[in-house]
Amino acid sequence: MALDRFGRRIHYLRISLTDHCNLRCVYCMPEDMTFRPPAEMLQDEEIIFLVRLFASLGFDKIRLTGGEPTVRANVVDLVREIAATPGIRSLTMTTNGVLLGKLARPLKAAGLQRVNISLDTLDPVRFHKITRWGNLRQVWEGILAAEEAGLTPIKINAVVVRGYNEADIVDLARLTYEHAWQVRFIEMMPLGGISDFQRSQVVSTAEMLARLEAAFGAVEPINGGELDGEARLYRLPGALGTLGFIASVTLPFCAACTRARLTADGRLRLCLLRDKEVDLLTPLRNGATWEEMRQLIVESIWEKPWGHGLAEGEIALNRVMSEIGG
Ligand code: GTP
Ligand code: 5AD
Ligand code: SF4
Repeated sequence: MALDRFGRRIHYLRISLTDHCNLRCVYCMPEDMTFRPPAEMLQDEEIIFLVRLFASLGFDKIRLTGGEPTVRANVVDLVREIAATPGIRSLTMTTNGVLLGKLARPLKAAGLQRVNISLDTLDPVRFHKITRWGNLRQVWEGILAAEEAGLTPIKINAVVVRGYNEADIVDLARLTYEHAWQVRFIEMMPLGGISDFQRSQVVSTAEMLARLEAAFGAVEPINGGELDGEARLYRLPGALGTLGFIASVTLPFCAACTRARLTADGRLRLCLLRDKEVDLLTPLRNGATWEEMRQLIVESIWEKPWGHGLAEGEIALNRVMSEIGG
């Protein structure tokens, strides 16, 4: 079992399969992003080795992220291997949905259980602007394909950015009347070289709720609005689906954190919003034994930072979101 020094049991690993993406969302990746050379990236067999190692330490929940995880070659084979690893009980993916029309079925057949899909607006023009070149219809078809393939229950992630989509949350919330999805509204987290832009455009959960209450009258809290994982859940009266609010900036949930992250270049990142990372790739390629790698991971997790310091103005700067996978 992997514990940190604050007594938190860390058992949820988010693996970034690539730092590449077929979109360029303004809050996630700079337009002039430079990518690392492929030789510095984890190979399939290295990922599988590390998954076995983490599973042996009690990690039972894996989420595949990016960049965009579906653009990695062999993603379906990789999913099959990870799904077959003893101890992994939950295998999910966070994706922009662009390639799901093609990949939803094979991913499900390979053992992927669910997907969370990013969708920030239902307006094709604003979608194009936020993603810098995305096609809304492709994503919509991807969501429907995921549902048909049984990658359910589906969660829709909308990062709310002032000046881009803060008014669109009303139409996104309305989706829950007809679809049994969880539509989640996410406060933008400032990180890396684009943090000044991000900081100036954050919309608080309180403001989002006020906008929805103005549009719908009542928005009912589920469980008294308490945290369910990282989201606070609500429902529009009579709706099939639910609404979630991820308030990383104004109401941090670090006390209940169970996560660690593996970056596409093989660093163990201990907190999304702190620079601290441990290089796993170099020892792995230098022939470290299973036991040595295991020890390195246990010791690193022990040192997981308590949480982020956004309220104090502390910003992690060494990476942008697209390199970590959120
Ligand atoms: P579930 O397993 O469905 O609960 O997924 P998830 O919410 O853990 O993952 P997802 O990739 O859908 O992330 C949703 C939002 O939460 C994104 O904006 C992520 O950046 C953010 N997020 C994920 N993990 C963390 C975290 O550890 N800390 C903070 N502050 N935000 C996180
Ligand atoms: N703040 C909050 N969420 C973000 N995501 C990407 N960048 C940010 C950010 N700066 C979201 C994506 C995706 C998830 C992995 O993280 O929209 O849904
Ligand atoms: Fe965990 Fe860091 Fe996210 Fe807080 S900010 S919930 S400590 S990963």
